[in-house]
Amino acid sequence: MASGAAGTADGPVVIVAAEQAEARPLVRDDVAYRMAGPAVRVLTRWAPVRRWLVRMTERQIPGLWAGILCRKRYAEDGLRAALAGGVTEVVVLGAGLDTLAYRVPEAAKAHVYEVDLPANIDRKRARLRRLYGEVPGHVTLVPVDFDTEDLGAALAAAGHKTDTRTFVAWEAVTQYLTEAGVRATLATLGRAAPGSRLVFTYVRADFLDGTDPYGAATARRRFTKGAHPLWRFGLRPAEVGPLLAEYGWREVEQLGPAEFTDRYLRPAHRDLPVSEIERSVLAERA
Ligand SMILES: C[S@@+](CC[C@H](N)C(=O)[O-])C[C@H]1O[C@@H](n2cnc3c(N)ncnc32)[C@H](O)[C@@H]1O
Repeated sequence: MASGAAGTADGPVVIVAAEQAEARPLVRDDVAYRMAGPAVRVLTRWAPVRRWLVRMTERQIPGLWAGILCRKRYAEDGLRAALAGGVTEVVVLGAGLDTLAYRVPEAAKAHVYEVDLPANIDRKRARLRRLYGEVPGHVTLVPVDFDTEDLGAALAAAGHKTDTRTFVAWEAVTQYLTEAGVRATLATLGRAAPGSRLVFTYVRADFLDGTDPYGAATARRRFTKGAHPLWRFGLRPAEVGPLLAEYGWREVEQLGPAEFTDRYLRPAHRDLPVSEIERSVLAERA
């Protein structure tokens, strides 16, 4: 098991796996169980275990459970729309054990670069070998530390074509980076072809600085404590557009609890809270 930021890849895929037992899953994913590990399928089939998992997650940050599912569904919708529009290059930044490249069948027609810290790239390779015998041909795994290494050089060496429209997913990663790491990543994305799309999430700066704990003061202390806190970078919603514009990207829309409830929860008749702490953004390369 990886530690620190690299140790955060398991939670989301376990939540998606557990969601598959629901009558109307917010994210449909027949790979998550196997990606999450054999015990997860057995355990999350039991409703009491699922309820316990939800309780533990919600005790940490109220609305985290549905927030993770909604942001994953949003990235998936963004990927499907991009592929339908002819995009053939996909980059998943901080992919962890995410299954976007495997649960969306059309993704196999594109080339997907999954980027993460070396420890998690090794774990992903091992899981993919267990699932498929080998890393599927449409996927290239790229080990990079966004804070200290050159993402653009690593993607180019892996074969990514920057002159081709690309869909980029960057889910639940920015909070783990330094501001310099976020800016270096955006500078690389600034070289993407016009018409490229980016779906990313960020944590609210007013949560990180303690102005508003959003009902999760204990989690805030845990994530932000010490000389090397786990969560380091946050934004205010109004800062997103100007930051993206510095790197040639235009904010198309930004979603929080109200938008996710209207778009995904209400139509699925799911009455769940969504956390205010993390927001999702769709942007387009101008
Ligand atoms: C909370 S997980 C999210 C994983 C995946 N995006 C998802 O939504 O399921 C955060 C991911 O960011 C990666 N990460 C954190 N800091 C990183 C860094 N400096 N460079 C590359 N990846 C990093 C972690 O290894 C981990 O896989």
